[in-house]
Amino acid sequence: MKRVGFVGWRGMVGSVLMERMRAENDFKDFDFTFFSTSQAGQPGPDIGQGTRPVENAMVIERLATMDIVISCQGGDYTSAVYPKLRQTGWSGYWIDAASTLRMEKQSVIILDPVNRPVIDAALHQGVKDFIGGNCTVSLMLMALGGLFARGMVEWLTSMTYQAASGAGAQNMRELVAQMQFIGQKAADLLADPAASILALDRAVSQTLCDSGMPTQAFGAPLAACLIPWIDKPMADGQTREEWKGFAEANKILDREKKPIPIDGLCVRVGAMRCHSQAFTVRLTRDVPLDEIEAMVAEHNEWVKVVPNDKESTLRELTPAKVSGTLTVPVGRMHKLNIGPRYLTAFSVGDQLLWGAAEPLRRMLRILHE
Ligand code: HSE
Repeated sequence: MKRVGFVGWRGMVGSVLMERMRAENDFKDFDFTFFSTSQAGQPGPDIGQGTRPVENAMVIERLATMDIVISCQGGDYTSAVYPKLRQTGWSGYWIDAASTLRMEKQSVIILDPVNRPVIDAALHQGVKDFIGGNCTVSLMLMALGGLFARGMVEWLTSMTYQAASGAGAQNMRELVAQMQFIGQKAADLLADPAASILALDRAVSQTLCDSGMPTQAFGAPLAACLIPWIDKPMADGQTREEWKGFAEANKILDREKKPIPIDGLCVRVGAMRCHSQAFTVRLTRDVPLDEIEAMVAEHNEWVKVVPNDKESTLRELTPAKVSGTLTVPVGRMHKLNIGPRYLTAFSVGDQLLWGAAEPLRRMLRILHE
């Protein structure tokens, strides 16, 4: 049985991964050791093998006894530990949710429903570093994988509506705290049906600028608002989140030598854990919409084409519906009046599942095959 060291299993992504692994009965096929940077010695989680004490995630010699290390601990941990571990001559598999190693030459970005052949070829060549992709990129490829696979994408823009969870657990808390603060400040006017809507609007607008509004994590109000900036600035006006669209998608698709132009704007909105995206696709050829829908629908078992009508959209194509599920609905699909080769589509996906935890547990399964 392969020995797996799991680091960062208590954090948000790690907890989602633990839930998924329990649900899929993954634990029975590996010999797990749980590591922690702060709670070594405490009892580990019960995964049906009895609990063992948690080990110290900074002890390289112990990590080096593992066949596989899976980390949801974050980029700082990867930067601190990974090079030292490899320096010992360790040749195990490193599976990581953090972005640190993603663009390294010796790494493969894992999203097996989209790039299983790339993963298999890499395993065959002895690649050992398998890194989860950026959530927005992974969800885009889960949604439109069928168009990429059929060579239908000449270029693409993605305008995103990204959830608080992408920024971290504290940010999710802050979003709800902001909602609560607004609700409290507006409570009297809201309770009075005779209160003027402009008075209610003024109360909310003033609350957004109130010094009591909790904005430590986001740096700005998100509830009843949005933030059109995610991550650090890059060259040419992009943010790093936007930069990843081109860089990571082409790496996942093994198109780095002949990249598909991909760009857009990334925006944080007040959803909890589902990232949504509006796409504009320049198609390589004019194909009827029903054929395009079929290409999208047949690509993987999780993508679901939603009819472009109001009832279906409200029922199927919202974070409320998708949160906590692996389904990736794609709807609002139609040709833009710009021309017959311009397609628009809208997708929603749980960024903690396909965007973070799921590709990691699936990579473990691939290593078990
Ligand atoms: N960077 C993403 C976001 C999440 O801020 O929403 C992680 O992939």
